[in-house]
Amino acid sequence: MKEIFVKDLSSGKRIQGVFFVKNKVMAIDRQGKPYLIVLLSDKTGDVEARLWENVEHFSKLFEVNDVVMIDGWTQTYQGKLQIKLIKIMRSEEEWNFEDFFPGRRREKKELIREFNALFNMYLRDVYLIELVDLFLKDQDFMEKFLTVPAAKSLHHAYIGGLAEHTLSVMKAVVKLSEHYRRFYGESFNHEVALVGAFLHDVGKIKELSYEKSFNYTDEGRLLGHIIQGIQMVDEKIKSIKGFPELLRLHILHIIASHHGNYEFGSPKRPKTIEALIVHYADDLDSKIESFHSHMKEIRDTSDDRWTGYLKHYDRFLFVEPYESSELEPSESTQLEFFSDFDE
Ligand SMILES: [Fe+2]
Ligand SMILES: [Fe+2]
Repeated sequence: MKEIFVKDLSSGKRIQGVFFVKNKVMAIDRQGKPYLIVLLSDKTGDVEARLWENVEHFSKLFEVNDVVMIDGWTQTYQGKLQIKLIKIMRSEEEWNFEDFFPGRRREKKELIREFNALFNMYLRDVYLIELVDLFLKDQDFMEKFLTVPAAKSLHHAYIGGLAEHTLSVMKAVVKLSEHYRRFYGESFNHEVALVGAFLHDVGKIKELSYEKSFNYTDEGRLLGHIIQGIQMVDEKIKSIKGFPELLRLHILHIIASHHGNYEFGSPKRPKTIEALIVHYADDLDSKIESFHSHMKEIRDTSDDRWTGYLKHYDRFLFVEPYESSELEPSESTQLEFFSDFDE
């Protein structure tokens, strides 16, 4: 069991404990000697650690995304807490990954209630209802689906992140469907878009493993969550008698195309309006959450108006939003736009 957390560390103490390895870099000091810079983390934060001795030996004993056992000393370097490592190696014990990732933002029960509300409100097709029901009743699936992060670091990287991301994409899809249905309703089916949004990332529960290390599984590396998701959904569809082939193709296509482009790992690009809506809702949702997290981190820790350079996005982000100066209530009742506009 994990006993020491990053937030409890203070300078000048011996420390023995388990941490998650976010990053590992080999560097060279002024004398030309190699040393190791390791970014350790848990659910309470990150701390940098350095190993100066036996570098070659220990660097072989762990990798990024492993949970490691460390022995070392805490010290302050340039105003920041750092760990001077004596030993570091992969922990072979099974660990509770809830200790290593930021905690869930919303309770499981609340998430389940929201999924149910959306399905009750918008689903009328018997086959889609049965398909959704098969997933909701699959306890093993739901347990993982409501617990795992959506990604290791890119977006929604906290307990329950996948379910929260999925729910948010579904809500965006509902709004977009309502908007576009008024004009182009004959060209798409909003129920298909909603169920497609629910299922778009289900393969992630198989893409990553959560024991010993938080990492891609062999199957995840070799197939990826899009193909794994298609397999999972197709398996359930096959168990539903009379499931229409056209509906099957529509649903599987949404999963196949949700990354939008070949270069982002989509085997297919969206070829239906439902798939287009899910792709953009997914892309927007993951980016907004990720932009927000980067901005919040800067706001919480400094007065800077810009984030550092974010390699993944190839840009800096501007942190300071404009705050509205609101009208007095009495003024707003008199507001009339276009008052001089000739009809
Ligand atoms: Fe995805
Ligand atoms: Fe997604």
